[in-house]
Amino acid sequence: MNDFPVDVNPALLERGRDRYGVFCSSCHGHSGYGDGMVAGRATELQQSMWTPPSSFHSDLVRGRRTGELFNTISMGIRNMPAHGSQIPENDRWAIVAYVKALQKSQYASMDEVPEDAQAGLR
Ligand code: HEC
Repeated sequence: MNDFPVDVNPALLERGRDRYGVFCSSCHGHSGYGDGMVAGRATELQQSMWTPPSSFHSDLVRGRRTGELFNTISMGIRNMPAHGSQIPENDRWAIVAYVKALQKSQYASMDEVPEDAQAGLR
């Protein structure tokens, strides 16, 4: 992971996982498919004006650079509210790192999987 102004290490990812759970998962869902509780309830109520939270696993969002994700969290985007005043800057980077990890987790290629685990996946 490049272009982070902070050191991306396990502690940062763990912090990101924790903060994502607090600030993002209610809308975007635990794995980032845009299927959090708020989204589920609104769909149930058939809110016609409702814009569903984006999935992080679309080509569009997967193509976003780290700085763009940081800006989305800080300033919001279209129908998503800004979180810049609620989440300290370092935590926002931690969340970006975690979102990147979530994206990677859904699209790992076979040669990124440890050899002894590959057999079970084929
Ligand atoms: C209140 C619900 C809600 C919360 C909380 C929320 N989002 Fe969103 N998010 C949305 C919606 C809705 C969209 C789609 C906006 C649109 O298309 O109008 C979106 C879009 C996005 C996108 C895609 C933007 C793009 O590039 O097109 C990203 C990335 C994202 N959110 C990240 C996050 C992160 C990280 C958090 C936690 C800090 C978060 N969101 C919290 C509702 C939410």
